[in-house]
Formats: sequence, C-alpha cells, structure tokens
Amino acid sequence: MQRSLVLLKPDAIQRGLVGEIIARLEKRGLKIVAMKTMQLDETILKEHYAHLASKPFFPEIVSYMTICPVVALIVEGPNAIAALRNTLGATNPLEAVPWTIRGDYALSIGFNLIHASDGEEAAVAEIKRFFKEEEVLNYNKIDSNLL
Ligand code: TYD
Repeated sequence: MQRSLVLLKPDAIQRGLVGEIIARLEKRGLKIVAMKTMQLDETILKEHYAHLASKPFFPEIVSYMTICPVVALIVEGPNAIAALRNTLGATNPLEAVPWTIRGDYALSIGFNLIHASDGEEAAVAEIKRFFKEEEVLNYNKIDSNLL
C-alpha cells in the first residue's frame, strides 16, 4: 500500500473544481486518509519546490501558490503514486491526454490545478512536510479486499 501527498492548487479552489477533482480520485479507488485547507508561504514552497527554486519562473510559482489556500490531502492505495500521476496527466496540460485531470480541466503549465508526489521518497518527505502525525487517519474500507 502506498501513500501520496496531493495538493489542490489555488486555481482548483478559485475555479470551484475541488469537489470534482476529489471525486475523480475517489472514483479511481484511492482512499483519503487526511485532508485540510492550508495557506502556503514562500518558506514551505522553497522546500516543496527545492528542485525549481533557482528557475526564473519560481517567483511566479510562489505568487500563484500563495494567492489563496490550497487543499492538502494524503491519499492511499495500491500503487497510489503511479496511479495518481497518470490520473493527473502530464505536468504541462497541453501534453496531458484527455480523461486526465489536467488534460480535461487545464490549459497552462502555470495553472495546472494539482500536485502529487513523484516517487516513494518524495511522498514520505512531502507527507511529513504538510501533515502532523495526528492528522493522518488509519482506517479500513469495507471493500479494500477488492482492490
Ligand atoms: P514539477 O515538479 O517539474 O512537475 P509536477 O508538478 O508535475 O511534479 O514542477 C512543479 C510545478 O512547477 C508544476 O506543476 C508547474 C510549475 N512549472 C512551471 O510553471 N513551469 C515549468 O517550466 C515547470 C517545469 C514547472
């Protein structure tokens, strides 16, 4: 069983797409084990996007990601990390295929709606960065033996 951090970025909130996006994750079979709204700041974004902090577009990422709260979730499921990445679609929505979240709802890389961890190591670090242990719920779904 794997866990991944998911962030519904400010454009998901601004465009009223939070429910629709979470519905897609649930329908995929992923289990929500933590969820909250959060106002991000430059400090957490410099950690979260450390691999992009020296890029010329980083200030734009900070402005975009701090314009209003995000919804942070931890989702769980078998192969959750790979399942999420292909449910999200490519980073650049123009390259994301239809029926993916970005392929259906986004047009520009600067406003691509959603983040998910890109590997197991990243998932562990990101979950720790965004959630306290007591915010994470452990429970079984009655149909979990079907997944
Ligand atoms: P990245 O970690 O490369 O992709 P992903 O979000 O799919 O894991 O990039 C983080 C975010 O930075 C990305 O979702 C959108 C933004 N970004 C840009 O605005 N321009 C770019 O050229 C890149 C590579 C990313």
